[in-house]
Amino acid sequence: MRVLVTGGAGFIGSHIVDLLVETGHQVGVVDNLSTGHFENINPRVNFYKLDICDRALRETVAREKPEAVIHLAAQADVQCSINNPLADASNNILGAINLLQACVGHGVGKIVYASTAAVYGNPSYLPLDEGHPVGPQNPYGISKYTVEHYLRVYKEISGVNYTVLRFANVYGARQDSAGEGGVVAIFADKILRGERPHIFGSGEQTRDFVYVKDVASAGMAALHRRDGGVFNISTGEGVSVNRLFQKLLEVTGSRLEPVYKPPRPGDITHSYLANRSACTTLDWRPRYSLADGLRETVAFYRRRLVAG
Ligand SMILES: NC(=O)c1ccc[n+]([C@@H]2O[C@H](COP(=O)([O-])OP(=O)(O)OC[C@H]3O[C@@H](n4cnc5c(N)ncnc54)[C@H](O)[C@@H]3O)[C@@H](O)[C@H]2O)c1
Repeated sequence: MRVLVTGGAGFIGSHIVDLLVETGHQVGVVDNLSTGHFENINPRVNFYKLDICDRALRETVAREKPEAVIHLAAQADVQCSINNPLADASNNILGAINLLQACVGHGVGKIVYASTAAVYGNPSYLPLDEGHPVGPQNPYGISKYTVEHYLRVYKEISGVNYTVLRFANVYGARQDSAGEGGVVAIFADKILRGERPHIFGSGEQTRDFVYVKDVASAGMAALHRRDGGVFNISTGEGVSVNRLFQKLLEVTGSRLEPVYKPPRPGDITHSYLANRSACTTLDWRPRYSLADGLRETVAFYRRRLVAG
């Protein structure tokens, strides 16, 4: 199958690209390298250094003639979306519309869209399932959710099929530990450097940590199913930040103590997502235990640290 992946130089996108290439698909990647890295790009793809907001995207889609598009390119930092909601909306909403226009004009049959648990906002019950009311608490959640509406409407108007995947907290190799990166990347990097990580609040807050290779296989599963819809991609289990930290100590053999800091305003206390719908409809399930995912992740950060 010919597949175009936007954001294929990023953390999650590069794992999806690797899996697509491994399984014999012909892959094109569009990425402006704003947060992605050239080293992440699989050498067996056609790479286009391009912004999804650029009108030239239409020529790229015309040249690649993808049967399907996996759309991951986005401004994916909650704090940046609060600091600069215009840039967030421009990237995430206008960029997606530009992509949709290009897809309609060039016979793309299916779009798989990387959405997020941030669309739900504060849970009124747990685990969050796809029927839970949506109420994003930041501009990032709003922009990601808005695109879900566009996909639905484009399907009605133009017949382009789609599947929305709402990812929980994804972790794994190639996640940026600098700045706002995921908590696993930050903790792993700090522990390996012998520095004490910060835990905000009591550490008893829970999150749903799903391993990036499981997310990549969900992307593949969605590609091969034509039935559309919205699916949580998660483990279905809440893991406290304290437990995550302990697991990382076990995996690294470290005995560091964390530094507890005051809770951050606006942080949701508990969040984990039901994955039953993805399991039954997409015939997908997470294969990695937290311990196995963390072992692979730590091995990556260890190699990177040694390489300098
Ligand atoms: N990491 C998570 O836990 C998580 C959770 C839920 C949803 N998501 C979603 O998954 C997707 C990938 O996230 P990630 O964590 O891999 O982030 P990432 O920043 O590593 O990947 C995003 C990629 O998109 C590229 N990009 C950004 N804006 C672009 C533009 N205008 N044109 C072309 N390329 C552009 C970046 O260079 C980068 O390579 C995003 O859509 C994000 O919203 C991520």
